[in-house]
Amino acid sequence: MVTVRAPGKVILFGEHAVVYGEPALAMAINKYVYVTARPRDDGKVTINASDLKLAGLYVTFLENGDLVARTDYGAVISALSYVRRAVELAMEYVGKRVGVDLTIRSEMPVGAGLGTSAAVAVATIASYVHALGYEISKRDLARLAWQVERDVQGAASPTDTAMATYGGVMFIRSVGGEAFMEPVKVDVDVPIIVGYVPRVSTTKELVSMVRSRLESMREVIEPIIKAIGMVSTMGRRALEEGDLKTMGQLMNINHGLLVALGVSTKQLDDMVYAARAAGALGAKLSGAGGGGIMIALSDRVEVEKAIEIVGGSAFRASLNTKGVEVVSED
Ligand code: PMV
Repeated sequence: MVTVRAPGKVILFGEHAVVYGEPALAMAINKYVYVTARPRDDGKVTINASDLKLAGLYVTFLENGDLVARTDYGAVISALSYVRRAVELAMEYVGKRVGVDLTIRSEMPVGAGLGTSAAVAVATIASYVHALGYEISKRDLARLAWQVERDVQGAASPTDTAMATYGGVMFIRSVGGEAFMEPVKVDVDVPIIVGYVPRVSTTKELVSMVRSRLESMREVIEPIIKAIGMVSTMGRRALEEGDLKTMGQLMNINHGLLVALGVSTKQLDDMVYAARAAGALGAKLSGAGGGGIMIALSDRVEVEKAIEIVGGSAFRASLNTKGVEVVSED
């Protein structure tokens, strides 16, 4: 039996602008998806994911159901299809179809923009491979998990699966449809408070909304996108220098620019302003917007409380540097 954990991520700077070739900065956080794999000898695959959280609510789905035999997962199909594809690719990787009991637990809300589906894919593949007594390099793991996301979603950036695999902070740029990720050296602790509310729009809808704004008002929107790219570059420098005060100011600017792009919501803005008023060095929405998560640069309990008072859920996080790892083995 092997338990593996893979971290979630937040986007510190650059969401949306990264779609147009500008840089972004992503950070792995010390909140994890845990997958325990126990091989079984009858060839069946079972999944127990009874405590996966959906936007703060606990949902129970397919308790020890037979993955191979079931074809209709109803409302849970999307969460389970990541696990199913990950198991298939892990079986191909080791060249054997050995059955397994998988138990999946998440410390983060699912579907909020924290990269939980990527963490599920990474941890499922890694736990299966290790439980069968094989090794897998991080490079192969990131590649297979990215394939899981592409197969399930149709298209996916490699960012989330890379963050769940390698951890740390990455400077991301996409050139000609290909993503380049550069690890950023960070010597300071980066205290983050994550606030979240249910999402009202999908990433796909928000990305296409920004695109149509860009097309209809290019002269206005293009400079905003360029400014976000410059904020990411300066944010990276501030982080490398351990200058959290400047980083906070840049987060505030980044949020304003995202508001101008039209991807924020009143609930996100309320949490951002509440966090700043309670003493955060900076705060912004993180990810695609339309609800989902915001981040505040702070470790103050007051900030966490302020987010909750305006209707969000909140938790504290900090930098994860190790990426995916085996946490227990017997
Ligand atoms: O909310 P998330 O983590 O899916 O972030 C989306 C980030 C975007 O820049 C809006 C889209 C993308 O593919 O980069």
